[in-house]
Amino acid sequence: MPNVTHLECSLCGKRHEAGQVWNLCECGGPLLVRYDLDRVRHRWKRRDVSNGPASMWRYAPVLPPANGSVISLGEGWTPLIRANRLGERLGAHNLWVKDEGVNPTGSFKARGLSCAVSMCVELGIRKVAIPSAGNAAGALAAYAAAAGIETHIFMPKDVPEANYLESMAYGAKVTLVDGLISDCGRMVAERAAAEGWFDITTLKEPYRIEGKKTMGYEVAEQLDWELPDAIFYPTGGGVGMIGMWKAFAEMEHLGWIGSRRPKMIAVQADGCAPVVRAWEENEPRSRFWDEATTIASGLRVPKPLGDFLILEAVRKSGGAAVAVSDEAMLDAGARLAQEEGVFAAPEGASCVAGLEKLLASGLLKPEDRVVLYNTGTGLKYPEAYATRFPRTASGQQDKLGGLITPR
Ligand SMILES: Cc1ncc(COP(=O)(O)O)c(C=O)c1O
Ligand SMILES: [Zn+2]
Repeated sequence: MPNVTHLECSLCGKRHEAGQVWNLCECGGPLLVRYDLDRVRHRWKRRDVSNGPASMWRYAPVLPPANGSVISLGEGWTPLIRANRLGERLGAHNLWVKDEGVNPTGSFKARGLSCAVSMCVELGIRKVAIPSAGNAAGALAAYAAAAGIETHIFMPKDVPEANYLESMAYGAKVTLVDGLISDCGRMVAERAAAEGWFDITTLKEPYRIEGKKTMGYEVAEQLDWELPDAIFYPTGGGVGMIGMWKAFAEMEHLGWIGSRRPKMIAVQADGCAPVVRAWEENEPRSRFWDEATTIASGLRVPKPLGDFLILEAVRKSGGAAVAVSDEAMLDAGARLAQEEGVFAAPEGASCVAGLEKLLASGLLKPEDRVVLYNTGTGLKYPEAYATRFPRTASGQQDKLGGLITPR
């Protein structure tokens, strides 16, 4: 681990040695990777970054694995798209979409799992297990396949079909669970030790966050090292939000950016909004959200493990947490597709709906530079979008009386 000095507990601050297999700290806190940033600062300038590959590995000096361990399918360095038509309609005149849907396996989960699986290679881990709301499963299955690592996936039985199929196609062993991601997490935790699996649950292993933080480095580089005024992030486990917040601190230490931060906006679903509730109640941690339900499967996380880190980023940045309905997400998704040519996952579309709310509240000004994270492609959510575009509504089919067949 080239520039890593140690791992640090995000709750009690305890140091853990690098180069060993870790999950959580004894106190239950997630571990964060720390680097010798003074050393990095002298050897790696921000002008050097563009000499690196067109993937998230252009930031390799602040990522944990050694070059030889990296398992890459071309993740990251995704486009930052100027959203003029959508922005004009909403009254946001400097609006951008970071399109994570173009990643391998169609979501930003590729970043975290490329990094985590690379670290499994580095640490000699041969079997992994994950509870997943959907996209993380597909991404893990793909990277583990590329690394030749055995993968066990526990997912709610109603995850989008695409996530089940891709996991199977990549050769993972999939258990469909009659419950939520929290139930899946319990099953992994109960069985991991006996089965010899490394538990790769969100924030229970230290490296997914490192991959996801590259979304923060990228947005800075793509905006010529000037952070936007606000970032909208669809928040389930919140790893992307926590990771970007960490990236900004690292970049400041490297002397690449100043102390100004974007307002960090956590967007959740009305049917599962533990972070929004905690933010509104001014609590440092969230409470378990009973009967969580939303079409945005990635947002169906009733009690994020890193809730205190998400809330810290939101509060320290002067941001906000906002919940939107499933209907609003699908409407926003259709508008984003029709106005910008970006077909977003409902999670990503939730950011558009959240932006509408916050423009109305006055927290954002029309001229603010705003970046929305579309965390995945809409193509993985046919079930959700089919409710908007049922095939039987097609005038052409009605006229022809069903399927079009060759004469
Ligand atoms: C498309 C999509 N967006 C957002 C999320 C939430 O991610 P995070 O854990 O970083 O909050 C997920 C998680 O499954 C997801 O699949
Ligand atoms: Zn601790």
